[in-house]
Amino acid sequence: MSRSVLILGATSAIASALAREFAAHQFDLILGGRDREELSALASDLSLRFGVRTGILPFDVLDTRTHAATLQSYLAESANAPAGAVVCIGHLGDQAKGQSDWEEARLILETNFTGCVSALNILANYFELRRAGFICAISSVAGDRGRQSNYLYGAAKAGLSVYLQGLRNRLFAAGVRVITVKPGFVDTRMTYGHSGLFLVASPEKVAKGMFRAIVKGREVVYLPWFWRPIMLLVRSIPEAIFKRMRM
Ligand SMILES: NC(=O)c1ccc[n+]([C@@H]2O[C@H](COP(=O)([O-])OP(=O)(O)OC[C@H]3O[C@@H](n4cnc5c(N)ncnc54)[C@H](OP(=O)(O)O)[C@@H]3O)[C@@H](O)[C@H]2O)c1
Repeated sequence: MSRSVLILGATSAIASALAREFAAHQFDLILGGRDREELSALASDLSLRFGVRTGILPFDVLDTRTHAATLQSYLAESANAPAGAVVCIGHLGDQAKGQSDWEEARLILETNFTGCVSALNILANYFELRRAGFICAISSVAGDRGRQSNYLYGAAKAGLSVYLQGLRNRLFAAGVRVITVKPGFVDTRMTYGHSGLFLVASPEKVAKGMFRAIVKGREVVYLPWFWRPIMLLVRSIPEAIFKRMRM
């Protein structure tokens, strides 16, 4: 089996912790993202620390017209054949601004949903043809129920979760595993300075959970685990009550 993994959005705090986790288990890595300098620094660090091979792949999730050429030319090199791919791209955005500024709303929807779907479609076709591999993507507990404070981001993540569910269903016959990761609050650049956060996990803890879920072939994983019962409870609150709760 190939011992390399492609990570898109590799500069994310969760993704770079996950890259370290893979490297510690002797996986080679291709780090995709839009910040070449940051990707190169991470790649050199991983090679030095863990003695694995690393490379970088310039990738902007919003530039969907380039996705096929970028991903297919990388995947066409048989030396690159990855064991799987992980999509960690996301953008929280500004909910209040997005309610009246379509460009903000669009940025949230395209970064978290349509752009990711564009990349995942290409990856799915590749792994389906190979009849092996895994695809993992980070969704969010925010997609489990619409809340007034972040329903644009939540709607995009809900779309991503359903997309991944259907993809898992489709790729089952080809032996390709699809893993949906739903973290709660994580201490990263995305949440920095935001108020009202609770049970905040470290990116390292979430990354360890992701690695375990990928290796064990889990399907939908809440990280940390306690977000599963919390979201079960949140989803069970009747709409008549929920809309009166200022969440
Ligand atoms: N932090 C949380 O509480 C939390 C909770 C649930 C789910 N998540 C999800 O976890 C994932 C990782 O987020 P994080 O918390 O680690 O935050 P982060 O550090 O802000 O990471 C976001 C990642 O998305 C990338 N990205 C944004 N726009 C992009 C674009 N146009 N093209 C390519 N890459 C782009 C960023 O790249 P740059 O470095 O170039 O900006 C960065 O790598 C996201 O999917 C996020 O939605 C986070």
